[in-house]
Amino acid sequence: MDKIKVIGKQTLSGKIYISGSKNSVVSLLPAAILSDECVIEKVPHISDVDNLEEILRFLNVKFSLESGVIHIDSTQMVNKSITEEYSTKLRASYYFMGALLGRFKRVEISLPGGCNIGARSFDFHLKGFEKLGAKVMVKDNLYIIEADKLEGAVIDLPFPSVGATVNIILAAVLASGKTIINNAASEPEIGNLIQFLNSMGAKIKGVNTNKLEIIGVSQLHGGKVRVIPDRIEAGTYILAGVMNGNNLEICDVMPEHLTSFFEVLDKMGARYKIDGDKVITNKSLHLKPVNIETAVYPGFATDLQQPITTLLLQAEGVSVLRETIYENRFQNTKYLNEMGANIEVLGDTIKVYGPTSLRGKLVRTSDLRAGAALVLAALSAEGETTITDIKHLLRGYSDLIKKLTNVGAKIWLIDE
Ligand code: EPU
Repeated sequence: MDKIKVIGKQTLSGKIYISGSKNSVVSLLPAAILSDECVIEKVPHISDVDNLEEILRFLNVKFSLESGVIHIDSTQMVNKSITEEYSTKLRASYYFMGALLGRFKRVEISLPGGCNIGARSFDFHLKGFEKLGAKVMVKDNLYIIEADKLEGAVIDLPFPSVGATVNIILAAVLASGKTIINNAASEPEIGNLIQFLNSMGAKIKGVNTNKLEIIGVSQLHGGKVRVIPDRIEAGTYILAGVMNGNNLEICDVMPEHLTSFFEVLDKMGARYKIDGDKVITNKSLHLKPVNIETAVYPGFATDLQQPITTLLLQAEGVSVLRETIYENRFQNTKYLNEMGANIEVLGDTIKVYGPTSLRGKLVRTSDLRAGAALVLAALSAEGETTITDIKHLLRGYSDLIKKLTNVGAKIWLIDE
């Protein structure tokens, strides 16, 4: 069951409830092992969570998931080498570097996986660990990171990397003394992690800023957190509503996390209304073309770059979109062009010539957000689209088919 079929041009109306954020929960789960018992609420139903569960169980952590609430008990945890079999299933497996180093002062782990959207090096993470006093050794693809003692340090990140900020926080909370992270990432998901760790007794200041101060503590106690709503999932369904909605309501959103996205929708003349934690969307005609450049938070999120490209196809004129975070995040354009789009790729920039009408086709999901872009295209296209390799989509969109079917989309899994 690695394919979906979509019959396009259905009107979408009703309510879609946004799940907990993928990029939050994937750091909260490794963070949970820093104390003995933790509770995580509003957990999305995505395969990245299943893959982290496998790693936790492999490390002898007790894990239960019921109605979106995870209970974790790591009192009997064993620090084992995390082999490729586990690590390559997702990017965030590398958050066990920071978490295990923090808890046991030693970790052995193979390379992470994740979407093939660029080089995605993690040198800043490793340099951060070294600054805290750890030694990093690499044998083939196995990373061995260990320290007699972790000591607080001042770490200047060359770029506000989300992953490096998370990993350094995880290693530093149990270090002795003070760690400062300058040029830290300030994405809302980092705020969610800090909230969780502080609920366990960590001392982290500077939430939502680019300078974090972590005062190491000797031990953490049990903690609890609710995963924040997934701003990228919300953005994706808002786009579906702007293309095909009739009062389609996207519920449980934190609109303050989507400011740059709404600015672009406003420039385009999209029809939507924010009402508390709801965004009400309607099919929008005569959209204007725009220029977009992706940036770190609070700029326009790279994770919404591919989904919004599908909306740009409907604008009346040429839109220009520059991707500044990843080198290889335009793999959706090939398939969109096969569906009838006219997109030119020029290095880190694409030119989208609109408006275009799309036709259903056989297309392939190359990575998570490319998959979202193709689902949006299929919902707007004439006829039937088959999307293959949807395992990428299932990594990050909770109950995608159910949510869309509930609001009138014709979309189903196929068994061929
Ligand atoms: N970078 C380095 N060295 C490092 C770390 C990063 O050169 O040590 C570069 C990367 O190669 C990339 C850029 O810095 O070009 C940004 O990387 P960052 O570390 O900020 O991203 P990430 O932690 O790998 C997370 C999300 C991504 C999201 C980015 C940016 C998770 C698990 N992943 O990735 O989410 O695009 O932040 O917001 O949180 C997605 O959800 O589709 C996704 C890819």
